[in-house]
Amino acid sequence: MATATLPLVWRGRSGRTYVPQSGGRPRHGVASVVRRVTGDGGPAGTSAIPDGTPLALKLWNEGDEVALDQLQEQARVLVELSSSDDELPCPRLYDLVGTPLVTGLVMEWCPVDLELWWREKLAEPDAFGRLMATMATVCRRVSDYHVFHAQRSGLESGHGDLKPSNILMAADGRWLLSDFGKPQVAEPDDSPWASSRVIVGTENYVAPELLFHADQPFPAALDTWSLVASCFALLQLRRLILDDGVVPRNGTRSPRFRMHRIHQVIEVYSADPTRFRARPLDLEAFPDPLELPEQDRRAIRESVRGIFPESGESSEKAIYELLLELFDHGMSIDPAHRYTSARDLAAAFEGLTRRYLELSTVSARKPAPKGPAPETLEIQRLRRLAVAAEARAASLERELTDVRIERDEAIAAAEHRPPAPTPPLQRLLPIAIVAVLAVNLLLLAVAGVGVGVLIANLN
Ligand SMILES: Nc1ncnc2c1ncn2[C@@H]1O[C@H](COP(=O)(O)OP(=O)(O)OP(=O)(O)O)[C@@H](O)[C@H]1O
Ligand SMILES: [Mg+2]
Repeated sequence: MATATLPLVWRGRSGRTYVPQSGGRPRHGVASVVRRVTGDGGPAGTSAIPDGTPLALKLWNEGDEVALDQLQEQARVLVELSSSDDELPCPRLYDLVGTPLVTGLVMEWCPVDLELWWREKLAEPDAFGRLMATMATVCRRVSDYHVFHAQRSGLESGHGDLKPSNILMAADGRWLLSDFGKPQVAEPDDSPWASSRVIVGTENYVAPELLFHADQPFPAALDTWSLVASCFALLQLRRLILDDGVVPRNGTRSPRFRMHRIHQVIEVYSADPTRFRARPLDLEAFPDPLELPEQDRRAIRESVRGIFPESGESSEKAIYELLLELFDHGMSIDPAHRYTSARDLAAAFEGLTRRYLELSTVSARKPAPKGPAPETLEIQRLRRLAVAAEARAASLERELTDVRIERDEAIAAAEHRPPAPTPPLQRLLPIAIVAVLAVNLLLLAVAGVGVGVLIANLN
């Protein structure tokens, strides 16, 4: 029996219709699916983007009531933010699907998220530096959201659900944040934890005070925790891929690994999820509340292995120490002890980027060619010349002395013999020797003056 294929068309509130763009595979999230679509029927209302432009349609997974509430909240924040003409911290919203409840959001298409981007880059020689610089940019984005948008529009100032799949890169390379609105952490007593022992979706990135529904004295510290946890996950992903080439998964897109810090938090949570509801977290309840446990410290040390292809240990160690400081601070259980502003965290990532650049420049610099500078070589050459000339002069002097002795002996012998005519060559010999000696002395003088002038110039 033939199976009918339903045409996939969605109608926006603007009246425009949206159809899937060929070649784009749906991207599945925890509670929704994002499809690449194009609009049809001409620009209408806020959906003023030309036909054929790729757009993202985020659709509710039917049946999940919590996800539907969440989509309403996301739509509310996106409408609010997209009404601004300023550069937005999120993908621009073009249309809404569904009435009276929103079941789909039509927004700017972002080709990659932070995790996909990192998978492409992580094997490159300068990958670590690029990640640090990107984290700094993303933190600035979060800070823009906290400072300008959240304060101005009266929205709660923490994003609450930052993680690599909610950090998107727009087609022009801007880093943007998505999924503003209430985070997905259910109330402790009606949490799916009770039945499934799984904390919905975000447990690897969610700050402990949000998980426990405890007091949140520093909303920005919810996000700095998540950003630092995201950075840890990406560094860990690099290690896993470079060492084993395989990333263990738990049936979702997200790699299966967990910080020891998160294990500790979940252990306390599983003993009694309601213990800190609407109260401050009690730091005493957690092991190592102000610094990361040993297992995570070792993982961080491992994560920087090989980040400087040219050099070794000491540069890696310098980066490890800075990184550890950032992680200890960023994932302290006590929110007051954390980065309470995303700008401060951005500055820490910028500091790491600079240090990385500095150390990689030092390690890439080729060792200077061994041997003396050209001036030194010239002085050495002139000195050698002078020594050779001196030796030649001494040898000529010795020859001259020998010749004189021979001559005197010859004269003495002649006095006892009848005189014989002196051969012309013998007469000329002493004159030639004196001339050669004079030329060599002259050479010696010239070399001496040359050395003197050169040393004077160098001084
Ligand atoms: N505007 C967009 N353009 C392109 N891809 C997007 C866009 N918004 C989200 N995505 C991607 O679609 C996928 C699903 O997004 P979605 O927000 O539904 O799920 P998620 O972020 O993985 O989890 P969560 O439901 O907790 O947010 C993710 O990989 C996300 O990066
Ligand atoms: Mg998302």
